[in-house]
Amino acid sequence: MNILGIDTSCDETAAAVVADGRQVRSNIISSQIDLHAEYGGIVPELASRKHVESINYIIDQAIREADATFAELEAIAVTNRPGLIGALLVGVAAAKSLAYCYDLPLLGINHIEGHIYANFMAHEDLPFPHICLTVSGGHTLLVEVREGWKYEILGTTQDDAAGEAYDKVAQYLGLGFPGGKIIDDLAKNGDSTAIDFPRPMLDRDDYQFSFSGLKTAVRYFVDRAKAAGTLPPIEDIAASFQAAVVEVLVQKTIRAAKAKNAKAINLTGGVAANSQLRQSMCEAGAEIGAKVYYPPIQLCTDNGAMIAGVAYHKYQNGIRDGLDLNAAPTGSIV
Ligand code: KG4
Ligand code: ZN
Repeated sequence: MNILGIDTSCDETAAAVVADGRQVRSNIISSQIDLHAEYGGIVPELASRKHVESINYIIDQAIREADATFAELEAIAVTNRPGLIGALLVGVAAAKSLAYCYDLPLLGINHIEGHIYANFMAHEDLPFPHICLTVSGGHTLLVEVREGWKYEILGTTQDDAAGEAYDKVAQYLGLGFPGGKIIDDLAKNGDSTAIDFPRPMLDRDDYQFSFSGLKTAVRYFVDRAKAAGTLPPIEDIAASFQAAVVEVLVQKTIRAAKAKNAKAINLTGGVAANSQLRQSMCEAGAEIGAKVYYPPIQLCTDNGAMIAGVAYHKYQNGIRDGLDLNAAPTGSIV
């Protein structure tokens, strides 16, 4: 069963054709990074306009690369929440038009559910229940995932998302946008013990996160060090900041895995591309007998394949949306 999945929730125009919830026949992702880079972050209005320009071409390319036709599709799936409202509306309008024209069922999908599902597409053996850490530019979410895609939310961020902290720290350090990969690369040549940045909320016996204070701590440290003429190498700042983020993410995830007796950890979202996070999570997971799964990069960051994947299961369970489907900037997975 072929489903076209569309995602325009943020700064990527994405469309994919997926067969039977898992077989990725095409996965087209058009990034807007260059457009937003000069502003040091995503400008929502520019994102919407760019989606409008690109969406038809991206969908067309997804169909062609899958060597498919619209007639072969059995459903259209689209991210309709959460995300930038103007951006989401572009994907939703495109999906509704196609569903109407080709008389196909339409499904509105939660973007976070897509990220959680992404690992399942790459790893057939991903067991249930497992603990899923979704870390991206907009979200930091710790969830227990049970058989049948049933979720229990354990914790989330109180302020900035992990990726947002990376992006803002990189912007402050003048490193460019998005900052995650830049900091990750710099950190490889830095001393992670050079600066003792705070580990926010690590001492709290819950699964909540907070990265705003850490971001501010980096800023104060750099301001003071610059004034005193004692600024350490940028690589050391990057490595020390990353060590703080990774330690908090890993320890809270491992704590949850132990508490829930989970034998697997599902690491997903754009920040799951982070080399240190992957390595530390794998090491810590091995110590408690939990296997760590992370998707290939093209399924880590925003994509339409994960949306089509989730839709397959919802479709099998009889879920459909009407042509009155709307977009929403917020939306929980439970
Ligand atoms: O999932 P995603 O593509 O979009 C959202 O749904 O937000 O995630 C983008 C985020 C950005 O904040 C980016 O800086 C971060 O993922 N990111 C990374 C790395 N690659 C991307 N963060 C840390 N290390 C990386 N290697
Ligand atoms: Zn995302």
